[in-house]
Amino acid sequence: MPVRALVGKRLTGVINWHRSRATIHSMAVLDAIIDDIAIHKPDHVALTGDLVNVGYPPEFPVAAARLSPLGTPDHVSIIPGNHDAYVRGSLDAMARVFGPFMCGDDGETGYPYLRVRQNIALIGMNTGVPTAPFFATGTMGRPQGERLARLLQDTRKSGLFRVVMIHHPPLRRGVKFGRGLTDAKSFERILREEGAELVLHGHNHRFSIHHAAGPSGPVPVLGVGSASAVPGTPQHLAEYSLIRLTPGGSQPIRIERRGIGLHDRKVSEIGISVP
Ligand SMILES: [Fe+2]
Repeated sequence: MPVRALVGKRLTGVINWHRSRATIHSMAVLDAIIDDIAIHKPDHVALTGDLVNVGYPPEFPVAAARLSPLGTPDHVSIIPGNHDAYVRGSLDAMARVFGPFMCGDDGETGYPYLRVRQNIALIGMNTGVPTAPFFATGTMGRPQGERLARLLQDTRKSGLFRVVMIHHPPLRRGVKFGRGLTDAKSFERILREEGAELVLHGHNHRFSIHHAAGPSGPVPVLGVGSASAVPGTPQHLAEYSLIRLTPGGSQPIRIERRGIGLHDRKVSEIGISVP
């Protein structure tokens, strides 16, 4: 499909979901965010992980029920976060419930997966690995890195707008000790050699935009906020990013941040960003 086909269309709503870490996450807040996403009818929803708290199998069906208003697996793409991979076996339990949301168009499981919607390539990574207590690091791993590089090459040749979804902040700078990607240097090298048009990550509960070096210019790296954060400080509000992609346009990415009010608990626009 030609690049111009997406001009003016809203492609992807992104939320980063953190369920029931009781004092800092609220399901009522999350429901308000989900309702707002549904009102805006994004063409696709990308969830960047941490759907549950401690990777306990019964948590996943509960999360699935809450997610259901967002749409079917064809309409929603999910990647795991570190809380989804909390202990050995957690990711298997997640896959039993969310497998159709976490596979490629070919139906194959494994990461990274590739989904193509219109002229957008969604590449889903898994960096969730069980870690020692008090650590929340993630790891891409060499096999995933090699497959990521191949997918980025192939989808570039196909003229697709390449969006990489990865839970952990994938760059070395701006990450707190014990919370980053252990092989961020390798991820940065892949971006530097193969490029991408946009990288989405979660994990930090904060909206952020950084840029990584790419072969033909900087690659925007967008961190999305938590969709269930209890209203507290303006730096820790529940929000999601409504992203309009216009491949080939003068401003190919436009991000509308929509977050919940401190007092009225209503969701509204809280900022516009063009990385
Ligand atoms: Fe996380």
